[in-house]
Amino acid sequence: MPSRTPDVLVVGGGIIGLVTAWRAAREGLATAVVDPAPGGGAARVAAGMLAAVTELHYGEEKLLALGVESARRYPDFAAELTELTGQDLGYRRCGTLAVALDADDRAQLRELHALQRRCGLESEWLSGRDCRRLEPMLAPGVRGGLRADGDHQIDPRRLASALVTACERTGVEFHRTWAARLDVAGDRAAGVTTADGTALGAGRVVLAGGGMSGRLAGVPDAVRPPVRPVKGQVLRLTVPPRYAPFLSRTVRAVVRGSHVYLVPRENGELVVGATSEELGWDTTVTAGGVYELLRDAHELVPGITELPLTETGAGLRPGSPDNAPLLGPSGLDGLLLATGHHRNGVLLTPVTGDAMAHLLVHGRLPEEALPFTPRRFGAAPPMTATTGTTDTTGTTGTTGTARTEQPA
Ligand code: GLY
Repeated sequence: MPSRTPDVLVVGGGIIGLVTAWRAAREGLATAVVDPAPGGGAARVAAGMLAAVTELHYGEEKLLALGVESARRYPDFAAELTELTGQDLGYRRCGTLAVALDADDRAQLRELHALQRRCGLESEWLSGRDCRRLEPMLAPGVRGGLRADGDHQIDPRRLASALVTACERTGVEFHRTWAARLDVAGDRAAGVTTADGTALGAGRVVLAGGGMSGRLAGVPDAVRPPVRPVKGQVLRLTVPPRYAPFLSRTVRAVVRGSHVYLVPRENGELVVGATSEELGWDTTVTAGGVYELLRDAHELVPGITELPLTETGAGLRPGSPDNAPLLGPSGLDGLLLATGHHRNGVLLTPVTGDAMAHLLVHGRLPEEALPFTPRRFGAAPPMTATTGTTDTTGTTGTTGTARTEQPA
C-alpha cells in the first residue's frame, strides 16, 4: 500500500535518486520518488565506464578512494539487481586500455602511470606494439599505453531500467510529475509541491536531481547545492557481426587535450564519448561536437568510419566545484543531498545507494562517504526558505531521436 506520508521522498529519478530509493526501501523505509520519467536523466546518454583507475586526476585522491570502493562493490551490486529484476545490466569486466598517440601523450600517460602506482592501483605499461597486439584495430601510430584490467563497464540505460524495476518491486511509490518547489515548515524540509500543485509531505527529502539539483525553488540559498550542468556529447555506432570483435575492451586517449573513449558493448553497440562543455543548460547536438568526436576517435581507431552511426546525444553531468559528489545533510533539517557526481555517477551508484541508506537509517554517513558532505562548501546557517519559484523545466539530455531527459 502506498504511504500517504513516506519516510523518504527522493526528488529525481535518475540512477542516483533511484538507487537511493531502492536501498532506503530495502531497509524498510516507506519511500517515494518524484520524477516525470524515472530512469531518464544523464544515464540515458552516459557511456557507463567504471573507470576509477584510468580516470584518476591529480588532487582527486579522496574521490579515487570512493570510486575504488564503489567498483569493488559493483559485482555484488549488479548480481543483486539482476536477481531481483531478472534484467541483464550489460556489466562487462573487459578492462580498459588508455593509449598515447604522440610523444606528449606518452609523457602524460607515463605521469598518470606513476600516480596510479603511488596510489596503489594496478595498471601495466605496454609498448605500442603490445597495445596493437591486444587491440588490432588501433592506429599504427599508437606509441604506448596503460592497461587497467580493473576498469570495467556497464550499460547505464539497462542499469536505470533495472533500478526502476527494483524500486517497484521494493514498494517505492512513484509520482510521475515535476517537483516544482521544496516545502519548508518551521525551518525543516517537509516535502515538495509538484507541478500540478499537489503537496507531497515526507519525513525527509533527498534532493537527487542531477544537474538540476541547484534549481529547485524553495531551497534556502544557504544550502542550495553548488551544482552546475556540464554538457557531454556522445555518439553511438553499431559494429556489424562481420566486424566483431571490433574492440574487446574500452579504449581511450587524450587527443589535442580532449578526452575520447570508445566503449564496446557485447550487443555490438560502440559508444564514443565525450565532449565536456560549460554551456549551461544547452543540450544541442552540434556538428562541431560530432566532428571532433569522430575525428579524435578516427585517429585512435581508423576503422570506425566503416561503422553505421546510429545515435547522437547530449547530456548534462552534474558538476560540482571539486568534481566530487555531495552526499549527506544539506544544512536544512530534513533535506539531504545526493548529487554532484559529475563524471562518475555510474561508477558511484552502488556506494551512493549504500551511503544514503545508511544515513537515512542510522543518522550518520558511513566512513567512506564522510569526505563528501556538502558541509565542505560551507553551508551557513541560519537558513530561511526562499519564496520565489524556479523554472525546473531545463533539459538535461537530448538524443538524435529528439528525446529529452530531465532528472528532477
Ligand atoms: N566519465 C565519462 C564522462 O563523464 O565523460
